[in-house]
Amino acid sequence: MDTICYLLVIAWFNIQVVETYPQCLRGCSCVEDRHGRSLVCMEESAFGAIPENLPDDMTKIRIEKSHFTEIPRGAFSQTPALENLWLNFNDITVINSKGLEGLGNLTELRLQGNKLRSVPWTAFEDTPALKILDLKHNQLDVLPEHALKFLPDLTYLDLSFNRLTVISKEVFQNWPLYQKLQNTEERDGTAFQTNVVLALHDNTWVCDCRLKGFVEFIRSLSPPIILMNSYLTCSGPDFKAGKFFHEVELQVCVKPIITTPSSNINLPQGANLTLRCSAKARPDPAVWWTYGLKIIRGFHVDEDTIRSLLVIPSLHAADRGVYTCTAVNFIGNSSVSILLDVHSPDGSQSLVLSENPPPPAASDENVYIDIHIAKQTVRGITIEWYAALDHPAETWFTIHFGLAGNNKKEMIFIGPGIHSYSVSDLMPATKYEICVSLKNQAPRNGQCIVFVTGSDITEMEQREKLIHIVVIVLAMVLAVPLGMYACTTDTKFVCLEGIMESWKNRRRERSSSGMEHERQGTFDSLQAASDEGLVNKDSSEDRKVRRRSDDRQPKGKADQSRLAAELY
Ligand SMILES: *[C@@H]1O[C@H](CO)[C@@H](O)[C@H](O)[C@H]1NC(C)=O
Ligand SMILES: *[C@@H]1O[C@H](CO)[C@@H](O)[C@H](O)[C@H]1NC(C)=O
Ligand SMILES: *[C@@H]1O[C@H](CO)[C@@H](O)[C@H](O)[C@H]1NC(C)=O
Repeated sequence: MDTICYLLVIAWFNIQVVETYPQCLRGCSCVEDRHGRSLVCMEESAFGAIPENLPDDMTKIRIEKSHFTEIPRGAFSQTPALENLWLNFNDITVINSKGLEGLGNLTELRLQGNKLRSVPWTAFEDTPALKILDLKHNQLDVLPEHALKFLPDLTYLDLSFNRLTVISKEVFQNWPLYQKLQNTEERDGTAFQTNVVLALHDNTWVCDCRLKGFVEFIRSLSPPIILMNSYLTCSGPDFKAGKFFHEVELQVCVKPIITTPSSNINLPQGANLTLRCSAKARPDPAVWWTYGLKIIRGFHVDEDTIRSLLVIPSLHAADRGVYTCTAVNFIGNSSVSILLDVHSPDGSQSLVLSENPPPPAASDENVYIDIHIAKQTVRGITIEWYAALDHPAETWFTIHFGLAGNNKKEMIFIGPGIHSYSVSDLMPATKYEICVSLKNQAPRNGQCIVFVTGSDITEMEQREKLIHIVVIVLAMVLAVPLGMYACTTDTKFVCLEGIMESWKNRRRERSSSGMEHERQGTFDSLQAASDEGLVNKDSSEDRKVRRRSDDRQPKGKADQSRLAAELY
């Protein structure tokens, strides 16, 4: 009987609690205890976004499993007393850099099990009292050097189960708390009372020279800084996968040194030539040839050397010139030039610069080349093409690439059997044209793609991005994609008009509904464009462009999360 009475009292009390907060949100419970007032929303998918009408006196908010994707600007500015904010197991992909505005009393932020690929670390300028930051089980792949700069009072930082590969030790050296510790340690070993717990395990650490500083930092840690799990392991490179940090010896990074066995070559016409260069660098450099690129190959000779071969089958006089092999890693670059001269088979020097290689075989002349954009990388594209050829093993192609409307195009020769080519380092807001033609033919109708890169970076994002890029260079991961649109030459006019129109629309959207929407529009068009196959011989291209802009509204949230995932 007593028990029942007790339960009734509890039940009554609970009802009272709920009743005293008629403003408590649906799907949530509001509780008051000696620590303050809490809002707890644990109902699956209770909200698609952070509710705007949060009761303003809360000191603790816990919203889980609601599947919202964003912490927008000022999301909690109505609840300035907030101290504990738990947003675990949602689908958060974007935190606005002003998303924590007004939370000067926040001490605990838990974002476990979301989909963050990046965090705008400057947002923590608004939360100087933060002590606990839990980012476990997200998808973070970079930590900018200034990540911890605005978190001077952290006592618990959990970055475990993310996708961090390379971070520099400066991340921690720039952490005010670590700096303070270094100083107090020099003066007095016991000045620091509380422990600081770092969880960094279960990331995909790549144990090459770039991680050297961090590995040394980890090994040097001592109380009051404690690792939750001190067995950090390497995920790569392959031969170090699974090794513990304390087992690996990492060497310092070195800038590329490139060499070639012969820098001056003179061969008769028709000869087959292989140019060679070797690049020594740590970490592995990117190696490429400039001039005529026929076949490019880079392969490892030993851990630190990459050898690259450029094969030029059947030399003609037009192949004469300077070939440059370049190797670049994040520390620097190095290149070597090879001067090639080609003389006629009778042995006499070919004084007449015949710039016309032999005419292409007649049967190949009108081959139709189907070309499309296969992939958009961060600042570039990859095209692929298909041609029904009589002699696929012998037929080479020429890529013509440059600014659209400018007749001077860069020409890149592609050897037989290769059907894709990537361009990188595209500039924003620029119209480019890329064509593939057979052998040395001039490009024809239908062999070109015109595309425009977007430029939708606000000043705020730009700054955040700059911070990123610093590390991105280190981590060899690239940052923010440009919006991109593609058209074929066939439908160039109509399509470009469509782009202009959609740009205008988007600009209007921007002024009405702000930045996030803008991004979404960009990505949608981009995605739609690649979904539909960028080369569309169909003259209804303009209709499609318009349909895309119409599609944009209803597609809504689902796409936004995908966009955001791509953005960071
Ligand atoms: C923040 O915390 C301080 C100290 O506990 C308190 O005096 C102040 O009222 C709090 N601010 C808000 C907006 O609740
Ligand atoms: C060049 O290579 C091709 C294909 O490998 C071969 O058929 C041809 O005989 C070679 N030419 C010379 C001059 O070695
Ligand atoms: C190579 O390094 C020089 C400076 O040392 C720089 O000006 C140049 O842009 C670099 N080239 C590449 C391809 O990174």
